[in-house]
Amino acid sequence: MSPAEKPVDQLTPEEAGEELARLAAEIAENDRLYHLEDAPVISDAAYDALRIRNAEIEALFPELVRVDSPSLKVGPAPTGTFGPVVHARPMLSLDNVFSDDDVRDFVASVRRFLAFPPDQELVFTAEPKIDGLSMSLRYERRRLVTAATRGDGSTGENVTANIRTIKEIPERLPEDAPDVVEVRGEVYMRRDDFMALNQRMAETGRVFANPRNSAAGSLRQLDPEITRSRPLKFFAYAWGETSEPLGKTQYDVVRRFGDWGFKVNDRMVRCDSVEALLKHYHAIEAERADIPYDIDGVVYKVDRLDLQERLGFRSRSPRWATAHKFAAEKAMTVLNGIDIQVGRTGAMTPVARLEPVTVGGVVVTNATLHNEDYIRGIGNTGQPIRDGRDIRVGDTVIVQRAGDVIPQILDIVPEKRPADSKPYVFPDRCPVCGSHAVREEGEAVRRCTGGLICSAQAVERLRHFVSRNAFDIEGLGEKQIEFFFNAEDPALRVRSPADIFTLKERQERSLTKLENVDGFGAVSVRKLFGAIDDRRNIEFSRFLYALGIRHIGETNAKRLARHFIGFAALMETARAAEIPEGKGDKGNAAWQEINGVNGIGGVVAEALVEFFNESHNLEVVDALLAQVKVLDEERVGEVSSPVSGKTVVFTGALEKMSRDEAKAMAERLGAKVSGSVSKKTDLVVAGPGAGSKLKQATELGIEVIDEEQWFERVGNNL
Ligand code: IVH
Repeated sequence: MSPAEKPVDQLTPEEAGEELARLAAEIAENDRLYHLEDAPVISDAAYDALRIRNAEIEALFPELVRVDSPSLKVGPAPTGTFGPVVHARPMLSLDNVFSDDDVRDFVASVRRFLAFPPDQELVFTAEPKIDGLSMSLRYERRRLVTAATRGDGSTGENVTANIRTIKEIPERLPEDAPDVVEVRGEVYMRRDDFMALNQRMAETGRVFANPRNSAAGSLRQLDPEITRSRPLKFFAYAWGETSEPLGKTQYDVVRRFGDWGFKVNDRMVRCDSVEALLKHYHAIEAERADIPYDIDGVVYKVDRLDLQERLGFRSRSPRWATAHKFAAEKAMTVLNGIDIQVGRTGAMTPVARLEPVTVGGVVVTNATLHNEDYIRGIGNTGQPIRDGRDIRVGDTVIVQRAGDVIPQILDIVPEKRPADSKPYVFPDRCPVCGSHAVREEGEAVRRCTGGLICSAQAVERLRHFVSRNAFDIEGLGEKQIEFFFNAEDPALRVRSPADIFTLKERQERSLTKLENVDGFGAVSVRKLFGAIDDRRNIEFSRFLYALGIRHIGETNAKRLARHFIGFAALMETARAAEIPEGKGDKGNAAWQEINGVNGIGGVVAEALVEFFNESHNLEVVDALLAQVKVLDEERVGEVSSPVSGKTVVFTGALEKMSRDEAKAMAERLGAKVSGSVSKKTDLVVAGPGAGSKLKQATELGIEVIDEEQWFERVGNNL
């Protein structure tokens, strides 16, 4: 048997050395074919197997690791290598706007929220949106202690050792910096540095697609010395926790960062009108090609920090900022085919298979076609799109890619349509399970009706279950899920979420060993089982999100978790709830409780109640609960204020703030805001002109205060 055929643990040191040399050469050659020639000759699975084998041999013979080892080169580093860091303040994202009119709307909505009269000055900053990776740098006693990536916004990855190698990031801050400060900004790579780096790397076979990936890959190195050799840069533009206020305006704080030794963007300006914002935007847009690093838009932020505070946040993004994105990049190519993907709810999405084409520096081979109407040239409300032109296989199409969004097909080139092309016929059966696919009245999507028998839906549900914001089980990617789902050996089969947690035990009892299966190996199997075991204790909101209930995304899962604290309470309430039938019916108490959770409306409540009253779902949940422990939602971060837990009604005219601001403020302070007065109301804030609600409150003996008194009461908690 040649060394290449031997299981890793049977190799002699000499054979291991030979194997590592062979693997290094083979991986480098395949990298070259893939990235430079765009012509891979082996499957992704076979390629992964080479890298896994290399890593396993290195784990057993660390002294034999070669200087040109593929494991030292970029490529997605195994996630989890960098420990988690919980952000003291979440790292939010920005809303996007695309047109000048959107910017006008944004400014108008800010003014409305703040109840600013038309003549009151409102200043914004405008600065380039850097296309890199956001980073939070925590300084304690003026020394850099932690650097963390954004991650999911609340938990990022600890990359401190690598960040310390970036010259533009100060290790120490001057005396005037506060004891605790988190400076946030963007790690990026200049385009010329990126090209030079790729040229160097071309010799080793692996190159990056664009400067952003290059910056990300360089930060994810296990060896900080490799990061040091990469030309990474940093712009500071925001902050997280601070032990004392940093200034009065966005502009001043950023300037202060500059004084502390950070690089700040010199294209940041203050603007006191929409027209000034747009002027700066168009100036930056015109300069874009000459700016030495990639940018994908302009960010506008309310300058005064007291106003930022009043404006606060929506679930993921601040109300006081927005990103004005540049127009997306486009390219022309040929549509080679249309495949149908079946999602976890059975939704059938058409995907365009394209002749590979570079759009804005990234090779695109797939694009979304949204739904069957879109292909036929019909828009969401039945109106014609693309002047009613349909899309056919063989057409020359225009592809658009904007930021991280999935590329889409905008239009076809009619003159290039082949004479023999035929309209695309959307399948009326599921391509995976053969069940009927139906399109309900008023819906744009066609869905497979196969439900539990449809393997595509089941696989997608499992993929969702292990995905990053759900159970986040590393080592269980698309390929592995498909492998386990289709495994012939019952000891290796995973059909339902609970099976993931019984996998280890089942295969230990069986004669089949996962580590002997192609594509796995001793090391990866151990890691996989470790990752699964790590998740036996899971946060409530993640657990709920993982179940894949319709309409329960991360935000709604969090809202429900915060309200019910324990999963058992949620399940019990949902099981007891009766969905109202028709108008006058208000549903029973359990229903009202769910429907009354802040931010949860009827549609979501109904989906939840239906889910927990379906026996198949209960079986899945029960089996899962036998394997994992759902942790109670932590009460940390729960605000305690004079109005927390109270139900408040605002009525009449408010003078210092808009109704929206009043509501947001009360909710931030832990109160529930209701639109009508009832026995459950604790407090009514009445302004001039208050009418029936005020009367009702007085009759019910509910405390009534005015706006002034409201501020006195909550003043210290703002
Ligand atoms: S401000 C609370 N300013 O864009 C908002 N973000 O789409 C904090 N980004 O995650 C972000 N340049 O990574 C801000 N000048 C800039 C930016 C910028 C790039 C990134 C950042 C953020 C993402 C949101």
